[in-house]
Amino acid sequence: MRIGVLTGGGDCPGLNAVIRAVVRTANGRYGDAIVGFEDGWRGLLEDRKIHLHNDDRTDRLLAKGGTILGTARTNPDVLRAGLGRIKRTLDDNGIDALIPIGGEGTLTAASWLSDEGVPVVGVPKTIDNDIDCTDVTFGHDTALSIASEAIDRLHTTAESHQRVMLVEVMGRHAGWIAVNAGMASGAHLTLVPEVPFDVDEVCAMIKRRFQRGDKHFICVVAEGSHPAENSGFALRAGGIDEFGHERFTGVAQQLGAEIERRIGKEVRTTVLGHVQRGGSPTPYDRVLATRFGLHAAEAVHAGQFGQMVALHGSNIDLVPLAEATKQLKRVPDERYREAEAFFG
Ligand code: F6P
Repeated sequence: MRIGVLTGGGDCPGLNAVIRAVVRTANGRYGDAIVGFEDGWRGLLEDRKIHLHNDDRTDRLLAKGGTILGTARTNPDVLRAGLGRIKRTLDDNGIDALIPIGGEGTLTAASWLSDEGVPVVGVPKTIDNDIDCTDVTFGHDTALSIASEAIDRLHTTAESHQRVMLVEVMGRHAGWIAVNAGMASGAHLTLVPEVPFDVDEVCAMIKRRFQRGDKHFICVVAEGSHPAENSGFALRAGGIDEFGHERFTGVAQQLGAEIERRIGKEVRTTVLGHVQRGGSPTPYDRVLATRFGLHAAEAVHAGQFGQMVALHGSNIDLVPLAEATKQLKRVPDERYREAEAFFG
């Protein structure tokens, strides 16, 4: 067989481990030819590719961050309009099956291709952990350990200066990194996109902690967090994103300034940003990525197309791409209530 592979969307620790597992299984075990398309869907739109073999170079990819194939975000409208071009590239290269590794956007495009008869098996990735129908995505554990280590460090400096520290973590639509890192590192408050916050309540919580003699306050803020309507505080838009939508960047910075203004406490803000996505994956993510790659290659050989590999408990299963891309997996109320039990 000839199998195409691509990595799409934001990069994520573990992408190379999936590529390695696909190559070792499909090329190493079954003798398939593996064609890696470069820079996500762009490689298919522009017919740019490299050939991957089960050799030493591929074998050493397990612990390497980023993606050797390169990645890109592609506007969904451009993708929709380019489906014909993508199918032509697949035909021109004699591709029998495609394994797209990506987040919501990449998997949605994979689902469209599948609807048009292209044999596809998707692999979910994202540090944000917001892909539905899988318990977890690789990359999340790495981001979580980076964020937790950073917050551990902020505790000591915040305490020394008796400061309020806001730490902004990634998570545009879902607060998984925030709730998990907040709980792992004993944050005093965690704000997530799923639960709009009230600045008065945030200020009251900070004042209570200092009044009872505690020396610092750590608040983890997911980047997609936003204030409740009528809470007397609105975020200023920070520009336009790559798809032309208004982008609200800098929520922690803006909230920090507002807290200082309202209660006069010294606030410092740390934005962890892309540090959370860089570098080597944790052992947990290497194992999950390797299992996803192995099962994707095996699904191709079993002719189980239109599916996405997914972790359920300790098993890797297949779920229909159409099902997995219906909605994002957000932090449920119950999970946020568990986090809340440790606020203040
Ligand atoms: O991959 C998802 C994500 O990590 C989001 O949490 C974050 O908002 C976004 O990527 C940042 O993407 P970019 O690399 O395009 O700035």
